[in-house]
Amino acid sequence: MSRKNMRNLFLGAAILAQSCSVFAQEYNQTYRPQVHFSPQKNWTNDPNGLVYFRGEYHLFFQYNPFGDQWGHMSWGHAVSPDLLHWNELPVAIPEADGVMIFTGSVVVDHANSSGLCAPRKECLVAVYTGDGNTPEGHRETQNVAYSLDSGRTWTKFKGNPVLDLKMADFRDPSVFWDDSARYWVMSVAKPKERKVQFYSSLDLKQWTLLSDFGPAGNTDGDWECPDLLRIPAAEGKDSIWALKVGTNPGALQGGSGEQYFLGNFDGKKFVASTEAGAHGWTNYGKDDYCAISFNGIPKGENPVLLGWMNNWQYASKLPTSPWRGQMSLPRRLSFFKDEGGIALKQEPVTAPLRGKAGGLGSPLVAPFEMEVKFENPPASLFGVRIHSDESHWTEIGFDTEKKEFYIDRTKSGAEIAKDFPVRTKAPLIAGRRYDMRIVVDRSSVEAYAQGGTIAMTNLIFPSPDAARVEVFPKNAKSSGRCWRLKSIWPAK
Ligand code: FRU
Repeated sequence: MSRKNMRNLFLGAAILAQSCSVFAQEYNQTYRPQVHFSPQKNWTNDPNGLVYFRGEYHLFFQYNPFGDQWGHMSWGHAVSPDLLHWNELPVAIPEADGVMIFTGSVVVDHANSSGLCAPRKECLVAVYTGDGNTPEGHRETQNVAYSLDSGRTWTKFKGNPVLDLKMADFRDPSVFWDDSARYWVMSVAKPKERKVQFYSSLDLKQWTLLSDFGPAGNTDGDWECPDLLRIPAAEGKDSIWALKVGTNPGALQGGSGEQYFLGNFDGKKFVASTEAGAHGWTNYGKDDYCAISFNGIPKGENPVLLGWMNNWQYASKLPTSPWRGQMSLPRRLSFFKDEGGIALKQEPVTAPLRGKAGGLGSPLVAPFEMEVKFENPPASLFGVRIHSDESHWTEIGFDTEKKEFYIDRTKSGAEIAKDFPVRTKAPLIAGRRYDMRIVVDRSSVEAYAQGGTIAMTNLIFPSPDAARVEVFPKNAKSSGRCWRLKSIWPAK
């Protein structure tokens, strides 16, 4: 080989090595989530149209293609083979003719019940809210679009809207196929009335009112983003129905949040159970809103819920650029019963990202995950502190006097707005374990406690240095493990 060729070979190798070792710049900013989805640039809020189809999980999301504040709402799009590694695709359904494309859902129309697919073929059908002004005033209506190419391009149904109550606030349809009733069921919110309505349809185009649910539970804010789903027992063959609904503002921790009701849906009506634990908050942190479940997931797999990791109180102020907004981790759902009552259990999907397990105590760079178990309460206050520097930390712990699990982010880093520095809390249930599973990313902490029956998600904006993890009090008897998590973004 000539000297020149050799030099070129070296140069090539050096460039390759360099480009392999850094993440694509668009995913490597200080607060850029490494295990959570965020769009490369611009604004996002609610996840939309979550569906599994032909080997791909689809995440559509409320998106402003033109800027990093809310507006021009359209459906952004990303696909993943495993719920974690996302590939962002071009905008799927753009705002058009002054009508914004608000939150909605996507189903797999296996039997071409809509007649919108190619003859004898299955296709994807989206049911979404169109939000716009008409000569009669501001209107929200339910509309249909379909895709014959796995969600890449969409055509609006000519007969839109498919459901119009001539109301300014009527939104966020969530549709699924009810196997026992043999029809499509839509849950949709009447936000100002604090109601969820259920409709049925045989063809996704003509909808018949089945029943109303609400007002119930917390009615302080507008009701948005309902989702009705069947949840299997953690063990055995039993199942239960869950209705979750977003409320904004006035949720448990201030601003936006989500409550759930466990109960029964007989194909027509949802009846909430009065058993202990049947009513709770889907998330006890400040930053998890408008979560919905995936349609079309393979038989036998537990349902998967995924939300917008944010709060309307300060969503427009997040110190991130060129994007604003990110999604929660996907969580597998199940339920169980114990002396404390009935419990919804959430387990984040992280296993494919885990590196080698290590003990607690070594410095860690986000993203990482840890599991800690305390045998008996070692003190009235115990848990873990994640220090980013001498004067900044996030505390995640149990307070047995107040009977609370909590996350304190008052000293976590940048305080972006007046409602941001808080200690969020959830009631402890006697008899359940003192354990926690925590996923720390560059700008968030997701915690799951008491066997996954408490989920608490909060944004944090710490310095990017390695975190020191400390169990407190120092003599607390605990066992635990940590994992570095691999970034979901491709190395460039
Ligand atoms: C909830 C929400 C939905 C609406 C969407 C608009 O965050 O207000 O009710 O469809 O956002 O972006």
